Order: sequence, then structure tokens, then C-alpha cells
Amino acid sequence: MIEAAIDDEIWKSGEPCEESSRDAVALNSVSLRYGNGKAAGSPTDVLGSVQLHIREGEFVCILGPSGCGKTSLLKLVAGYEKPTEGEVKLYDQPHPGPNPKVGVVFQHANLFPWLSVNRNVQFGLKMLGLKRAERSHIAAETLNQVGLSAAASLLPHQLSGGMKQRAAIARALAANPALLLMDEPFAALDAITRESLQYLLRKLWLETGKTIVFITHDVEEALLLGSRLIVMKGGPGRIEIDMPNRLNRASEPFAFARQHLRYGETREQLLKALRPAGQSWQD
Ligand SMILES: Nc1ncnc2c1ncn2[C@@H]1O[C@H](COP(=O)(O)OP(=O)(O)OP(=O)(O)O)[C@@H](O)[C@H]1O
Ligand SMILES: [Mg+2]
Repeated sequence: MIEAAIDDEIWKSGEPCEESSRDAVALNSVSLRYGNGKAAGSPTDVLGSVQLHIREGEFVCILGPSGCGKTSLLKLVAGYEKPTEGEVKLYDQPHPGPNPKVGVVFQHANLFPWLSVNRNVQFGLKMLGLKRAERSHIAAETLNQVGLSAAASLLPHQLSGGMKQRAAIARALAANPALLLMDEPFAALDAITRESLQYLLRKLWLETGKTIVFITHDVEEALLLGSRLIVMKGGPGRIEIDMPNRLNRASEPFAFARQHLRYGETREQLLKALRPAGQSWQD
């Protein structure tokens, strides 16, 4: 009965943005090999014939053991790497290469240390050729959105870890990318800062309808945020589990989701898939 009651709340409230039927990202039989045998080290097959279609408006969380190829997959989607075989498409078009319309946030904020927060956020806008007044207006709005207005004139070394990540998110959002790629963006943060940024990201997703691809090692984070959960396996990298997740839909998602019977079940299912073969801590 508890499940039924919470189900109603979850499915009705906080309806997420509509998913369209158009693919934001398509990986068709994509393989990736690093190294050509000429440089030091032998070639490494990192991804093997990955098939992945992400619709506009999805919030896809990708989990997987270290070294299985998650970051490599994200680099292909960002256009930083090209597939050895297969094709990567964005919005039904061949990948145009790195561009500010695809926002990327990494685990470490990678802000330009000599630029203020405000100038860091404006950087991509300058690349896009926007005029100073427009850049300034957008940067102020975006910094307000991530709760960082008061820190606009500070340099990166004057920020806390959480503030740096907010600044990095603001920088990625400023160019209004339809597609946001995030590689363990909250991994280095304390629990409370992390939770506040999780709420912020989920709010942004609900309000803007952006497509988000989010890599994490944290199963609970994936369950609370993702509308779709993917587990990768390595050797070479492939998709092992690909499932929808409705636990992210309540208006107070974290409180509701954690009480839900399916939360525990799905968490176990994901952890089982992530454990090395044959390993169980309960034995
Ligand atoms: N530029 C590179 N040249 C050669 N090998 C690479 C390169 N980048 C990554 N690799 C190899 O590719 C494999 C996958 O790396 P990747 O960074 O994609 O893993 P990951 O799943 O993101 O791991 P983690 O969870 O630790 O971040 C690893 O074996 C790594 O050593
Ligand atoms: Mg990685």
C-alpha cells in the first residue's frame, strides 16, 4: 500500500519535461580504439560496437566500473574524440565537432585561473561572437540561476569546491546548450553541497527541458536524478543495463524516492550489475 500511495505522488507531481521523439544523441555501432601502435603502448579497444540513442529531454545517468569507458563515451558525444568505427550523430546530423552548444562539465571545474567567475562564464559567449552587453547580461542571469551572483568578481582560487562546480555549471549553461554532458561533476564535494547541486541540476532539467548525460559512480545519485539509467561494462566498453527510472519524478524527489520500495530494489539491481562477476558481500 505504501508503494501505491507514493506511486501516485511520484507519477503525478513534478512531471518532467516532455521527451521528444527526436534523438539528441545517436551512437551507431560505435567502437573506439586508443593508440595506433606507433606511440608507446599497444592499442586499446575501449568501446566495442556501442549502440545508444538518447532522446531530447532525457536525463541519462551512466554508471560503470572504473576504466570501462564512460569518459571515453562522453568524449565521443562531446566531439573531443572520433569513433574508430561507426558514427556519432547529434540531432540527426553528423557530429559537428566540439562546440559551445554542447555544454561539458567535468569532475574538476577546469576554470581559467586568471579569469574572474564572471569572465569564465562569459568565455564561451565571446567565442560565439556575442557583444559585451549581451554577454554580461547572460552571465549575470546564469550566475543568479546557480546562486553565485555574489561571487561573480572572485577568482577561481578564492572559491570553495562547491562554488567552483557551480561556476563550471554556469559556464556550461551560459551558451544555452540543448545538450549538457557531465562527467562525475559532484564527485569531490561534501554530502550537503552535493545534494544542493543535485537539486539545482534537477530543477534546471525540469525547467529547461535540456538533454543531460551524467556520469556518476554513485548509484543513489543516479536513481535520484536520471530518467534513464545505463550500466556499462568494460573490456571493451559496452552497455549492460539500460532501463527507465521513474523515481526521479516526485516534486520532492529525494524524500519520496528513498521511501519507495522500488528504490531499494533498483539500487540492489544496479549494485549487483556493478560488482565484479561472482562477487557478493552478503556471502
Ligand atoms: N587518451 C588515452 N589513450 C590511451 N588510453 C586511454 C586514453 N584515455 C583513456 N584510455 C583508456 O581507456 C580506458 C577507459 O578509460 P575511461 O577514462 O573512458 O574510463 P572511465 O569508465 O571513465 O573510468 P573512471 O570511472 O575511472 O573515470 C582505460 O583503460 C584507459 O586507460
Ligand atoms: Mg571517467
